Amino acid sequence: ISSPLILTVWALLGYLIGSIPFGMILARAMNLGNLRDIGSGNIGATNVLRTGNKTAAALTLLFDGGKGAVAVLLARAMVGEDAAQIAAIAAMLGHCYPIWLRFKGGKGVATLLGLLLALAWPVGVGCCIAWLIGALSTRISSMGALAAAAASTFLMVLLNFGQMVVLGVALTLLIYWRHRANIKRIRSGEEPKIGQKG
Ligand code: G3P
Repeated sequence: ISSPLILTVWALLGYLIGSIPFGMILARAMNLGNLRDIGSGNIGATNVLRTGNKTAAALTLLFDGGKGAVAVLLARAMVGEDAAQIAAIAAMLGHCYPIWLRFKGGKGVATLLGLLLALAWPVGVGCCIAWLIGALSTRISSMGALAAAAASTFLMVLLNFGQMVVLGVALTLLIYWRHRANIKRIRSGEEPKIGQKG
């Protein structure tokens, strides 16, 4: 078990890596306008797609997922499994509450998938499949997110990931909390389909 100081350092590093708002940066760099004025106002790939630029959306997905994976892999390589788990939750918090955007960040889905693929790849693959089933069957991105988040805890229990289940529950709850406006819209039938301006 690593020292509290080392774990604190990785919490901070994980947060900083997760807090890079790639969607915002790409939208600005590619002159797609201010994401806050588009669709849901979110900084994630789903909302970048509402600008009509598929490349920018795909890159956002890749980079937001990639930063989750990088945080976990760096912490694991330099310290160990406990630091990797701390870096994972910290990266999610960084994405959802980045200091650079006055703590108004994204919803964490791409970052969740990326960090799960690095942390526990069978869970990550299962969650990607759950996302695809949820999103493609309804054409609603947030339905994919809610399915993937639920699947993360479910799969960690099913595959006997031990105390990592606590992390799974925390990540699942965070995703549901960040999607509370989406859940309201889904319930009232107002949630836009993938690619719709919303
Ligand atoms: O990944 C975020 C997605 O689940 C919902 O995004 O823009 O429709 O709120 P958005």
